[in-house]
Amino acid sequence: MPTTHADPLQCLLPVVEIPPFGYAFSYRDGPVEEQGILVMTPGGPRAWKNQCRHLALPLDGDAPGRFFDRDQRHLVCTAHGACYRPDDGVCIAGPCRGSRLRALPLVIRAGVVCLDGAHLGGFFR
Ligand code: FES
Repeated sequence: MPTTHADPLQCLLPVVEIPPFGYAFSYRDGPVEEQGILVMTPGGPRAWKNQCRHLALPLDGDAPGRFFDRDQRHLVCTAHGACYRPDDGVCIAGPCRGSRLRALPLVIRAGVVCLDGAHLGGFFR
């Protein structure tokens, strides 16, 4: 679903339809088109900027659309194997261990997960 500067809420999809392997989406942060990942966790939906904290590469750069490891427990970067917890975005293994994926703000409206563009925090983060 396209986003405009005049529409700070970008509705992604219903909570019950978040796929177990994650949902990729694009969004606009200021003048920049970015990529995000929406995942379901035990604590609810979480969205992360699709950019590794080791190098500024998409997590699925070497395998488009693949975000999780084989046992579906962690988000993994296909470049060098950084492994992130999907609930808090913390890297628990790999070259950027201890760093954290950039969180994207979400709101839920009538059961639909929406990106809250008014609270993205700016594209320089
Ligand atoms: S770019 Fe992701 S681990 Fe190196």
